[in-house]
Amino acid sequence: MELVTKKIILDCDPGMDDALAIVYAAGSPELELLGITTVAGNVSLSKTTSNALRVCEFIGAAVPVTPGSAAPLLRPPISAEHVHGADGLGGAPLPPPSGRPQPGHASDFIIETVLGAPGQITLVAVGPLTNVALALLREPAIAHEVQDFVIMGGSASRGNVTPAAEFNIACDPEAAAVVFSAGWTVTMVGLDVTLQARANDQVTGSLRELGRVADLLLLPCLGTYAGNADGGPAVHDLCAVAHVARPGLLGCQPARVDVETAGRWTSGMTVTDFRASQPECNALVATAIDAQAFWDAVLEVYRPLAQSLSG
Ligand code: RIB
Ligand code: CA
Repeated sequence: MELVTKKIILDCDPGMDDALAIVYAAGSPELELLGITTVAGNVSLSKTTSNALRVCEFIGAAVPVTPGSAAPLLRPPISAEHVHGADGLGGAPLPPPSGRPQPGHASDFIIETVLGAPGQITLVAVGPLTNVALALLREPAIAHEVQDFVIMGGSASRGNVTPAAEFNIACDPEAAAVVFSAGWTVTMVGLDVTLQARANDQVTGSLRELGRVADLLLLPCLGTYAGNADGGPAVHDLCAVAHVARPGLLGCQPARVDVETAGRWTSGMTVTDFRASQPECNALVATAIDAQAFWDAVLEVYRPLAQSLSG
């Protein structure tokens, strides 16, 4: 049976779990990583862009990296350096990039790539949604020309920046509001599932067997996610990309999702209504994850990549 690969654009803010997601996207036989677009989020745009280049060069992935927005649509940037480290990759000792990012803006890359291949591109966003919102504001048609649109972000039940808001949404609630009201169906892979698939001791033990790619990249990108004490670090973005490759890993429910932009205590909350009627639904919200199958899938991709890099 012929393997059907999905063509994807990965919009991200590397970021440790973004880096794990890049490695998976580049190594998965189910995915064709057409391009990476970067946004400010975990760390500054210059660092997220440099990190995307560093990771791609380290794993030998010839993927164009196009930078996007250095700040949210309206609000001042917030950073997660306290989680991802000042470099954004948990101190992973990768060399500085030798290559350069592409000219132009991420939103242009998204528009041109999606409209150039109608119905064929899955857009995956695992950082603040500023680039995607700008692309939609410039060219609303992309909402109807993508094959699918998947985010890591939000939650039906809780936040991680505040009790109500998850980081990617909290960074740029106005962008998220544009994204969720664009007329497409947003597959929302949020904290409800990403916190259920932590890199426990068994997982890190398996990763340690992968040699150089683990020692220099994968493990440092798990190491300082210390905020997730119980059960090991969560790997939020990796869950979203693995879902694109293997949709059976997650259980998703249709819902209406609206983004709070004005709440004093709730700004950035993805207000999720599973009781909404079908015409009102604008999202498929991930509510369950097969954590064992998820990590099996990750190692199925990481192992051959590690072998190819072990030289
Ligand atoms: O809340 C987790 C999300 O915020 C992940 O995408 C992580 O990389 C950070 O951007
Ligand atoms: Ca991210």
